[in-house]
Amino acid sequence: MSDIIEEIKYWKKQRNAVILAHNYVRPEIQDIADFAGDSLELSIKAKNIKADVIVFCGVRFMGETGKLLSPNAIVLLPNPDAGCPMADMASADAVKTYRKEHPDDILVAYVNSTADVKAEVDLCCTSGNAEKIIESIPGDKTIMFLPDRNLGANMNRKLHRSMKLWPGCCPIHDQVTPQMIQNARKKHPGALVLVHPECRPEVVQTADYALSTGGILKFVRESKQNQFIIGTEEGILHRLRKENPNKEFFPLEPTLICEDMKKITLENIRDTLRDLTNQVQIPANQTENALKPIEKMLEKS
Ligand code: 13P
Ligand code: SF4
Repeated sequence: MSDIIEEIKYWKKQRNAVILAHNYVRPEIQDIADFAGDSLELSIKAKNIKADVIVFCGVRFMGETGKLLSPNAIVLLPNPDAGCPMADMASADAVKTYRKEHPDDILVAYVNSTADVKAEVDLCCTSGNAEKIIESIPGDKTIMFLPDRNLGANMNRKLHRSMKLWPGCCPIHDQVTPQMIQNARKKHPGALVLVHPECRPEVVQTADYALSTGGILKFVRESKQNQFIIGTEEGILHRLRKENPNKEFFPLEPTLICEDMKKITLENIRDTLRDLTNQVQIPANQTENALKPIEKMLEKS
């Protein structure tokens, strides 16, 4: 075993720490994590964790969600520069202004949003529970869904709703086109196409299924099919291949890489555990309001 993994194990024990990792982080990090999962699974885990320290291997909004759900733990973000460009497409000031101008709207924020934005909204959702959360809101209410216009549009189509959509998107998933799917189907006829609901609606319509990363893993595990074209960030291929050694996976495009997720390295996990640097802090005046929409989401999940 490499020295760095030994060091991580040593410091993990010293700190009574747990390592959580999103399905998009580097393979070697998924392998040393105590738990790897999608945004919903990681939130549920963070809420029930018994540890003094949580190392959150994911982007900033995930660490913030972990801290809100586990306020007594020290939550460490191994690389504080790992942000989510989509989360940054909705600022708290813009959301406050929207609220003032539309006081009767229900504001639903995708969990890919900053803590100060969550403090301004009514409900949160992840890609794993968006349907359930949106369906829990009476049909006669006007909803503003933020910041992902693609996930919102996909839910509108699926649930026959007409939510208003914030003009944000994930730059990685937004580059996927129906043509890419048609090309991949030609190369791998017979393979099922699985995409993420952060892709554009025309892409979701061209694919066979649109699922959260946890949903993709579950679907493949239970499927009798043997070949899959995967239309989401490439990090998920590691778990898919490890958990299903007899099935074949083809990335839809080699360019589906989230640079922010890749910023987390074994070195910065070791350093953050050893030095307790990069602790997630949420301003006291935001904590209660930011936690409310997350708690409501978890109650409905
Ligand atoms: P899920 O893992 O919840 O599907 O989210 C995907 C994502 O883009 C996280 O940043
Ligand atoms: Fe944000 Fe997209 Fe990266 Fe997820 S994959 S963290 S939504 S930029």
